[in-house]
Amino acid sequence: MWGGFFFALVAAQKTGFPRELRFPSCAPPHIVATTPQDGDEGPKGQSMAHIIVVGNEKGGAGKSTVSMHVATALARMGKTVACLDLDLRQKTLGRYTSNRATFLKKEGIDLPSPQYHELPEIDAADVKQGENIYDLRLSAAIAAVESKSDFILIDCPGSHTRLSQVAHSLADTLITPLNDSFIDFDLLAHVDSDGTRILGPSVYSEMVWQARQLRAQAGLSPIDWIVVRNRMGAQNMVNKKKMQAAIEMLAKRIGFRTASGFNERVIFRELFPRGLTLLDLRDIGVKGMNISNVAARNELRELIKALNLPDVEINF
Ligand SMILES: Nc1ncnc2c1ncn2[C@@H]1O[C@H](COP(=O)(O)OP(=O)(O)OP(=O)(O)O)[C@@H](O)[C@H]1O
Ligand SMILES: [Mg+2]
Repeated sequence: MWGGFFFALVAAQKTGFPRELRFPSCAPPHIVATTPQDGDEGPKGQSMAHIIVVGNEKGGAGKSTVSMHVATALARMGKTVACLDLDLRQKTLGRYTSNRATFLKKEGIDLPSPQYHELPEIDAADVKQGENIYDLRLSAAIAAVESKSDFILIDCPGSHTRLSQVAHSLADTLITPLNDSFIDFDLLAHVDSDGTRILGPSVYSEMVWQARQLRAQAGLSPIDWIVVRNRMGAQNMVNKKKMQAAIEMLAKRIGFRTASGFNERVIFRELFPRGLTLLDLRDIGVKGMNISNVAARNELRELIKALNLPDVEINF
């Protein structure tokens, strides 16, 4: 079944992508071969997992915050969700899931939760010439969960790494959170001095473009790329409008959808030590939510709706 991908990807490497963006020869066959196409089925006959990648090379854009909320929301909607964290140093998503397990155990509460998986260690002696150890680790992690999961959610680091680059080519859905700032926008595209004209794509959108090329040449479904604004505030109206206009302009140029994201709210950060999201509050005995928390839940609902994920019925 995967032989066609292999040859297409070998061909992709000969087409002259910019050198720094090109995958070494071993990467795509191992990795992309695990990505499902429409109608593909796992070994037990069930559909293979839909891969959601949350990425942006800019640090602090809200990737882990979005990852925690989307993964937990999907688990709460009855989906089996496997999580991988490619920030091997910070492991924020890993910390979140372990905080959740500890808190729920302490309180004696059972709540649906995403399942976190470490990338397996691989002995360097087992890496053949031309292979990349990170590709092998990611490939093994995905292979271990893909037939058992409805979704695999991958949280990427806020920098350009090999793991992040390869993960982008695996994305059925790519979510890119973006702070409401032209400093963050600069990783998607360069704009003129008053922020109204796009001058050209930037490093991150070029990386996504290359991941799309690889998928196209391998005959995989295109990446559904959704840019989500994060930490929006009530102030800075001029900047907010300029950002909105720039994002809309760019969406048409480089092909992404936009979704309304999260406003700047305390609730999006304060529940981390307990591994909770605002969807869990009622279950831990919180009676009545304040207006900001209700608004935050609506923001999460709108985001999940906009993602348009397969077989997801929103129930919150
Ligand atoms: N909507 C929000 N409201 C309030 N705080 C937020 C919101 N989104 C994110 N934050 C806070 O912003 C900081 C950065 O968020 P987060 O860690 O999710 O970003 P990241 O993109 O994963 O960062 P990194 O690139 O370091 O992995 C954190 O302190 C987080 O709690
Ligand atoms: Mg993070």
